[in-house]
Amino acid sequence: MLQISFSTQIEPTAGALAILVPEGDAYPTVFQTFDAATQGALSRAAKAEGFKGKDGTSCVVLAPSASFERIVLVGLGKAGDVDAWGAEKAGGLAASLLARAPEAAVAVGDLSGALAAHVALGAVLGAYHFGLYQTKKEDDKKHQLAELSVLGAHVGAAEDLWPSLQAVARGVVLTRDLVSEPANVLNPVEFAERATTLRAHGLEVEVLDVAAMTELGFGALLGVAQGSANEPRTVVMRWNGGKEGDAPVAFIGKGVTFDSGGISIKPAAGMEDMKWDMAGAATVTGLMASLALRKAPVNAVGVVGLVENMVSGTAQRPGDVVRSASGQTIEVLNTDAEGRLVLADVLWYARDRFAPRLMVDLATLTGAIIVGLGHEYAGLFSNDDDLAVGLADAGAFTGEKLWRMPLGKEYDALLKSDIADMQNISGGRAGGSITAAQFLKRFVGETPWAHLDIAGVAWASKAKNGQPKGATGFGVRLLDRFVRNGFEQG
Ligand code: BES
Ligand code: MN
Ligand code: ZN
Repeated sequence: MLQISFSTQIEPTAGALAILVPEGDAYPTVFQTFDAATQGALSRAAKAEGFKGKDGTSCVVLAPSASFERIVLVGLGKAGDVDAWGAEKAGGLAASLLARAPEAAVAVGDLSGALAAHVALGAVLGAYHFGLYQTKKEDDKKHQLAELSVLGAHVGAAEDLWPSLQAVARGVVLTRDLVSEPANVLNPVEFAERATTLRAHGLEVEVLDVAAMTELGFGALLGVAQGSANEPRTVVMRWNGGKEGDAPVAFIGKGVTFDSGGISIKPAAGMEDMKWDMAGAATVTGLMASLALRKAPVNAVGVVGLVENMVSGTAQRPGDVVRSASGQTIEVLNTDAEGRLVLADVLWYARDRFAPRLMVDLATLTGAIIVGLGHEYAGLFSNDDDLAVGLADAGAFTGEKLWRMPLGKEYDALLKSDIADMQNISGGRAGGSITAAQFLKRFVGETPWAHLDIAGVAWASKAKNGQPKGATGFGVRLLDRFVRNGFEQG
């Protein structure tokens, strides 16, 4: 992970540098300093490129003087409008443009300490690269950036804030690493194994194996898993940073390490995407790591259901009836609607065992949410307006945006089965994300609950907002902010 340091000295005299430039008539002092040091190369380049500091824009100036390998100008947008998310985007873009240099600096001018810390967070995440399986030296060269100093007038305050934001960065990186791993490596047992390594940070981690889940009556989850040679697991992660005895906040994740669709098999094209059908579980894991790393004063529990949905002679069949841990029976009409079956058991278990004050689940649950919201917003479903507003606010702050979708008994009625208490699909394609959420709602009782359908936002097919393509880690920053905003003592 990119190492960050802070300095009030605006003086790198060589190497690679980014300058964050607000939109406006006059260039900031730091720009002028380096423009003078490069005999006007920066202002000439900005003019030639039409660079005006607009948010999301940049201008790369290669070798502007003998001592600088590159200076990149990164737009911040209107100075008064820069918020935490804007600072992160600029930091991410800066880091991605400096990625070939092993060491670099980013000059943030007179941005506040808080915003400078968010520049650093964006930079760490913008420099992220999953290179585990690339053995060629050329590939490494594109991602050499290892140390970045943040230069600015107010970075003293940023330095104080940084440890807590760095904890969040580490959580996002863990989530992205898990999501990026191929399914032949990251099966349910391996995922659970990696979760246990978080004990080193003070998390209590418990792994439920097949025997334990059978004992608990996890018939819905086990039905999905039965076609795979890889055994399922459920992992419970607990962070007890709050007052003893205070009900925890609970986060629940869908962890389908590969979703072939099962007997209701998916088409071949794009099936490789289904290695990231465990993104909900990865987000919960990264979030729990973040809370522990920053010693958040809150009681939190994370529960993830880990299975592989495969096709085989032991796979469950369309029409099978399974009994969930809640006692409710389910007719499995489509084995590809497996995420809700996994969540049915882990949601019910989280509520029954921990009596949490609220539950938030994350799942790459439906293709339909991509049809509805594309790749900008995750779908938010909730039985509690305050919870929905709290989540949406945290989403706006972090740029991990949520759009609320409806629930209602008319949708619920579509889940009626002829043979069991419910069926796992509604029949038609209409409102597919809503009927999926409606299915989950049957397992949460009266607990304030929200479901985030992250199918459209967990993976980016191209780099965006200063973040690399691939696993986004969507939800870690959002839920960390949600916890900070409303659930920490003191
Ligand atoms: N994991 C998929 C949903 C998905 C699709 C996630 C695309 C990410 C990208 C889920 O298990 C699934 O297969 N859902 C079905 C439900 C249908 C059978 C009712 C879908 O969306 O087609
Ligand atoms: Mn599926
Ligand atoms: Zn799935």
